[in-house]
Amino acid sequence: MATPRLLWMGLLLLGILQTQAQATVSVQPDFQQDKFLGRWFSAGLASNSSWFQEKKAVLSMCKSVVAPTADGGLNLTSTFLRKNQCETRTMLLKPEGSPGSYSYQSPHWGSTYHVSVVETDYTEYALLRSEGSKGPGQDFLMATLYSRTQTPRAELKEKFTTFSKSQGFTEDTIVFLPKTEKCMKEPE
Ligand SMILES: *[C@@H]1O[C@H](CO)[C@@H](O)[C@H](O)[C@H]1NC(C)=O
Ligand SMILES: *[C@@H]1O[C@H](CO)[C@@H](O)[C@H](O)[C@H]1NC(C)=O
Repeated sequence: MATPRLLWMGLLLLGILQTQAQATVSVQPDFQQDKFLGRWFSAGLASNSSWFQEKKAVLSMCKSVVAPTADGGLNLTSTFLRKNQCETRTMLLKPEGSPGSYSYQSPHWGSTYHVSVVETDYTEYALLRSEGSKGPGQDFLMATLYSRTQTPRAELKEKFTTFSKSQGFTEDTIVFLPKTEKCMKEPE
């Protein structure tokens, strides 16, 4: 028979496990990072950040190249058009917890973002979930559709809409970014 103390310990452990289970974000089972590498286009976005709400109408698709880093994480370098010039920005994602989960330390805000690859087939699409803070009281959640081509199939768009809604986003916060020719070429 369990002594009251053991019982209490057991309940405590159960409580902790339950808390962790609730906080766990689902990740692509058996995630294979090497297959996730290479070029992606950010074809869809949903976010509740105020920045996104202001800018969503003027955003266009951007190209991201994912490469491995020495610490087992990812170097995600994005190229996009800004003020008529191509700009690149690199995010270094550190592995965190289970494969497919990463953290990113923002040099601008000093805050940490959590990024996870919730679902991917590696060859056509990936559904990403990011959350973090852009400063005090500015927590945000974002869903991203990565597509291997600039012309995602309608089924893929539907999949992204369903995914975004499962993350709590409403229709008006989901956008499919227009395709652009600018800044999409491979660097020479
Ligand atoms: C990340 O990738 C970019 C583009 O290939 C490269 O210029 C940069 O040096 C890389 N950074 C790190 C820390 O690997
Ligand atoms: C965005 O959603 C997340 C998760 O639901 C929440 O914690 C955060 O406060 C929300 N941010 C805004 C600006 O509404």
